[in-house]
Amino acid sequence: MSRLLITGASGYLGGHLLALAAAERWAVTGTYFSNPIAANGGAGLSLDLTDAGAVAAAVAAARPGAIIHTACSNRNPANVHAIVPAARHLAAAARAQGARLVHLSTDQVFDGEQAPYDDDDAPNPITEYGRAKAEAEAAVRAACPDAVIVRPSLIWSLDPLDKQTGWLVDGLCQGTRVTLFTDEQRCPVHLDDLAALLLQLARRPELAGPLNAGGAQALNRWDFGLRLLAALRLVRKPNVRPGRVAEGRLVRPRNLILRSRRAKALQLTALRGVDDVLAADLRRLA
Ligand SMILES: NC(=O)c1ccc[n+]([C@@H]2O[C@H](COP(=O)([O-])OP(=O)(O)OC[C@H]3O[C@@H](n4cnc5c(N)ncnc54)[C@H](OP(=O)(O)O)[C@@H]3O)[C@@H](O)[C@H]2O)c1
Repeated sequence: MSRLLITGASGYLGGHLLALAAAERWAVTGTYFSNPIAANGGAGLSLDLTDAGAVAAAVAAARPGAIIHTACSNRNPANVHAIVPAARHLAAAARAQGARLVHLSTDQVFDGEQAPYDDDDAPNPITEYGRAKAEAEAAVRAACPDAVIVRPSLIWSLDPLDKQTGWLVDGLCQGTRVTLFTDEQRCPVHLDDLAALLLQLARRPELAGPLNAGGAQALNRWDFGLRLLAALRLVRKPNVRPGRVAEGRLVRPRNLILRSRRAKALQLTALRGVDDVLAADLRRLA
């Protein structure tokens, strides 16, 4: 049984990955920061990834053959501030341990003005989160040139519900205003597909460098939201309405369509489009 360390196992992606890894019989340890996790088939470890000494000691003690670094998202400013130091410390520890590193980045390292984006396109972030993730990518590449750097689009699932869809459903039910942008394009990737891909990458140390992880279907946020509400059998109310990034003051990359060519060329786990996933769900329930 191979030893695997998953950071951010108390998070949305990390929690799902922990359960899947345990089911696939990895000897898995999952780390958390402020939200202790139930072991979920693996071991739970409290770790502040911004603490260099603690990271080095934890990795040396766990002796993982592979590390999947999902921790530090855009959930709140503290998470964003932790992105660069966490990546730096973890990459140094992975190198010292000789462990395979699968690093989670984001499509938001791109500016949204030059889509579609290929795996080897250079980052040009326009948000604080995107800038931190791009800096983290550079730190990982410098310390661990053999690491694979995965850039997912929006991660979604109806079970467990992702945060954005949860926000949409809560807003719908509470009658608060929910604006879904018609001019923001993404390639949502399903949680199951991404988790399977990450475990596959953990087993393939010969794959290094950036790897786009976008689902096969590009959608704007409005069309995506309508599909999710329909799949959840919820009727849209007037408080959920379309809007345009271009009309507001928000700084957000508008078109982040990814071409996930490397994943396809290498015949890695298929990253299904939203309609394909929903159709498969319907067939399963029929
Ligand atoms: N969700 C998306 O749509 C999406 C899209 C593209 C890329 N990504 C990337 O995918 C990864 C997973 O995203 P997610 O949405 O699943 O994240 P999430 O649910 O927000 O979870 C973030 C995790 O980071 C941990 N964390 C935060 N600060 C930490 C610190 N100082 N030390 C150690 N751990 C710390 C949290 O631990 P506690 O909860 O215990 O504090 C939590 O487990 C992230 O790298 C994110 O940037 C996400």
